[in-house]
Amino acid sequence: MSARPESLIERAARVYDFNAHLRGRAEAPVEPIAAEEPAPVPVRDVPGPAPAPAPAPVGTLAAIPAEFLSDSDDDGLDEWIAPPSDVAMIDRTMLAEMGMLVPGAPVGALAEEFRLVKRQLLLTARVVAEGPLRQRARTILVGSGKPGEGKTFCAINLAISLAAERDVEILLVDADFAKPDVLARLGVDGEHTGLLDILADPRIDPEACVIRTDVPQLSLLAAGKRSHSDTELLASARTGEVLDRLLAANPKRIIVFDSPPALAASPASVLALLVGQVMLVVRADRTTEGDVQEAVQLLDGCDEIHLVLNAVSYEPGRGRFGSYYGRGE
Ligand SMILES: Nc1ncnc2c1ncn2[C@@H]1O[C@H](COP(=O)(O)OP(=O)(O)O)[C@@H](O)[C@H]1O
Ligand SMILES: [Mg+2]
Repeated sequence: MSARPESLIERAARVYDFNAHLRGRAEAPVEPIAAEEPAPVPVRDVPGPAPAPAPAPVGTLAAIPAEFLSDSDDDGLDEWIAPPSDVAMIDRTMLAEMGMLVPGAPVGALAEEFRLVKRQLLLTARVVAEGPLRQRARTILVGSGKPGEGKTFCAINLAISLAAERDVEILLVDADFAKPDVLARLGVDGEHTGLLDILADPRIDPEACVIRTDVPQLSLLAAGKRSHSDTELLASARTGEVLDRLLAANPKRIIVFDSPPALAASPASVLALLVGQVMLVVRADRTTEGDVQEAVQLLDGCDEIHLVLNAVSYEPGRGRFGSYYGRGE
């Protein structure tokens, strides 16, 4: 076996212990956050950059966005202001438990890795924007060949990482219609009108379906109700129109799609025709080279396909996470 460079996620897994939060809960002398902890109560002590004896558990006060903190009674202490009721609360505790990025938490190795990925995607977006796709350059499809390879994991992490950029608004769209779980993974409950509903009924205003969250610059769009004609709906001209409306509504908006597996469902290929870039997640302990090739072929309606090696091995010579996998290679 020849030595090969470690993939980004491999390095992340080595540096960043994904189970540490869970173990930390059992061992830490500080009070752990219960999974069902209610919304934060008035904040008395927002951890600042000063060194603390023990690191704040991920998902605690540090994660409350500044816009929801205010010293309303002038006592020098910030109180927590409940966000408007139409703002969905992202469950940071759950994100931490799943080993995912936690908005507002101290930057760890995984966050650093996703910074590299987003940097490359943002650079490519700039180049794509100069070509015929123009504003569609601001759309990224997160795909994979088969289920379970980490599309949703990567799409959410990427969206959280991108949302921390200045001058962007991220719209994370759940387009895995067969297994929509973006909202549930973020702890957002309830029925929401989503993409398929918008495509099926032209009277629905896409913007009205965008779910704002308490993570600054991060919004969500649900998958919507499934029908037998998902692929036909997606393939209709309306999809492009809806996409363009969402992009035109906010020039800072970047749309990230969590897509269905390319080898299992056709909507992924259809979406690939519409987006500026594809981030293809490969889980090399499971994904065969043939599957990768086939997935690339199915998604090659998009000229910019980036490979992301998730959790395990990595082969191609150049780059790591986010290396360019050119058309026809
Ligand atoms: N790099 C990773 N580290 C930790 N857990 C991961 C990683 N990648 C995927 N997972 C977990 O593996 C499972 C399958 O991933 P998921 O993102 O749901 O796959 P997909 O959306 O492609 O079907 C999920 O429980 C997810 O949290
Ligand atoms: Mg998924």
